[in-house]
Amino acid sequence: MRILSIETSCDETAIAVLEAEGPIECPKLKILGNALISQINIHMEFGGVVPSLAKREHIKNLPFILEEVMKQVREGTEQSEGRTPQVSETNDIDTIAVTVGPGLEPALWTGITFAEELGKKWGLPVIGVNHMEGHILSVLYGADVPVDFPALALLVSGGHTELVFIKSFGDYQIIGRTLDDAVGEAFDKAARLLGLPYPGGPEISKLASIHRGKGVEASITFPRPMLHSKDFNFSYSGLKTAILYKIKSMGELTNDHKEELARAFEDAAIDALIHKTRKALEVNDVKTLIVAGGVVANSHLRAELKKLVEEFTHISLKLPEMFLSTDNAVMIAIAAYRQILDKEKLPEALRASGNFSL
Ligand code: KG4
Ligand code: ZN
Repeated sequence: MRILSIETSCDETAIAVLEAEGPIECPKLKILGNALISQINIHMEFGGVVPSLAKREHIKNLPFILEEVMKQVREGTEQSEGRTPQVSETNDIDTIAVTVGPGLEPALWTGITFAEELGKKWGLPVIGVNHMEGHILSVLYGADVPVDFPALALLVSGGHTELVFIKSFGDYQIIGRTLDDAVGEAFDKAARLLGLPYPGGPEISKLASIHRGKGVEASITFPRPMLHSKDFNFSYSGLKTAILYKIKSMGELTNDHKEELARAFEDAAIDALIHKTRKALEVNDVKTLIVAGGVVANSHLRAELKKLVEEFTHISLKLPEMFLSTDNAVMIAIAAYRQILDKEKLPEALRASGNFSL
């Protein structure tokens, strides 16, 4: 089946067309079209995403992205099937899917309105998708062995830091979450304090890697929040305050200082993730660890996760491919496919839900 998916929850406008077959634990997935416009340059000068600007840009970008994706689908069909679909044809798309939350409501509404208008025009149903389920299922693309259940997911994005127990796809129980800032948000805020551009995650990661490459430990250490709490919750606001005070105490920052601060911050932020995930793996008998959300693009986190699963003989680690780590529409189509297989009932009308939980 062919699913056209739309993602506008934050500052990425994305549309994809995915062909999906087979069971959700090990589906056969083929991307027929995929296009994305990032609004980073627009939000950069404000140091974060401005919802009204995000909305304006999504409205402007969606028609162009749709045109580009449909062109990719048409050209792909011509090449692989040797036939030219009619221009008016929907390229055999069966369903439209759109992110309904969590995210910025004005941004989400642009995607929903666009999806519903397209659904009417093409006579197709429109499925509402949870963005975080999209991140979880992003690991299915390119995977060749089925996911074994139960599984644990560590979700690390700009708005979320969660540990989720997964009985089977579609059956989620959040067992831990951040009590304040999300880990991606902490990266972004720390970067801002260091005078680095938005989004800060990749910037901090670059500087930290330079420092790590020098083969010495950072002489600064930041607190590992919540290490001793018995639950699976996280807290990142203390780490942000710690880096703020450290920067204030250091005066003018040289490049060496920035690299060391970035390294010390990244070590602390990722240690906390690894520690709580280890605890959750020790008490929950799971067969798979899934890690997803924008921060999983971080190479230090990926390396530490690989070491972590080596401590457990029976757990396999599933990470998304790099291009599906940060926000994209492919993952939204995969989550819609899961809903279709489970024959989930479609609501009468779709609504944006900023705090939509799993
Ligand atoms: O999942 P995502 O693209 O959007 C949300 O749903 O929030 O995640 C974006 C977050 C941002 O906070 C960004 O700084 C962070 O992911 N991020 C990273 C890296 N790449 C993106 N954080 C650390 N290291 C990275 N390489
Ligand atoms: Zn996301």
